[in-house]
Amino acid sequence: MRIDILTLFPEFFESPLDQSMLRRAQTLGKVSFRVLNLRDYASDRHKVADDRPFGGGPGMVMKPEPLVAAIRRVRQEDPDTRVVFLSPSGRLFDQGTAAELAAAPALLLVCGHYEGVDDRVRHFIDVEISIGDYVLTGGEIPALVVVDAVTRLIPGVLGNDAATEEESFQRGLLEYPHYTRPRDFEGLTVPEVLLSGDHARIARWRREQALRATLALRPDLLASAPLSPEDQEFLATLAEDSGKDR
Ligand SMILES: C[S@@+](CC[C@H](N)C(=O)[O-])C[C@H]1O[C@@H](n2cnc3c(N)ncnc32)[C@H](O)[C@@H]1O
Repeated sequence: MRIDILTLFPEFFESPLDQSMLRRAQTLGKVSFRVLNLRDYASDRHKVADDRPFGGGPGMVMKPEPLVAAIRRVRQEDPDTRVVFLSPSGRLFDQGTAAELAAAPALLLVCGHYEGVDDRVRHFIDVEISIGDYVLTGGEIPALVVVDAVTRLIPGVLGNDAATEEESFQRGLLEYPHYTRPRDFEGLTVPEVLLSGDHARIARWRREQALRATLALRPDLLASAPLSPEDQEFLATLAEDSGKDR
């Protein structure tokens, strides 16, 4: 998969794209990143990419010409590229959207800055994504969030694809708790079932812990999570227990 990032601040990406899983994914040939400098697509002598807003008001607005020139160039190279604009007005990014983007042959992530981009650029993008209901200075951090979440879902990147299947949100639930050595840390012990070697019991315990955590912390997720009759029964016993506790 190829992921291009269009930005006014290409240096921003130098270190993050060269660390940990993102570095490994490139070494394995699973993904290639290109950081495109928006100024390279500005046609004037001074490489101007922003201008004052029509109608007045604070801040600067990113001009449409360089943005659209860059989008067109990337689409010319690969017409199947999905063009993603990072924006606080976009659809809220979640694991489902990450999986959807990971299935695309190529992505172009467009980072806004200043007050935002000229609204006409919207005609040239496929999807607008927000990473949360807050405003950041630019689309660079949101682009990195998307790059990380998407890349780890590309088959073969994590070495063990089962690892992502078990993670939070992937099955519509939060994840179960993890433990490693020592068995006893300052009086806090590892649940006995994890030391039992009984894989069926461990799997059931993990599922129940995931259900318990989701009910306690993110009950909204349960409405759309795929639940077995056994899961439903377990949740019903939790609800009964909490009723007794009151
Ligand atoms: C300072 S923000 C512009 C905010 C804009 N004036 C508004 O009120 O929605 C500059 C750029 O940062 C990026 N950005 C800021 N917050 C974001 C978020 N929560 N999700 C995705 N991108 C964001 C967008 O690319 C945006 O164009």
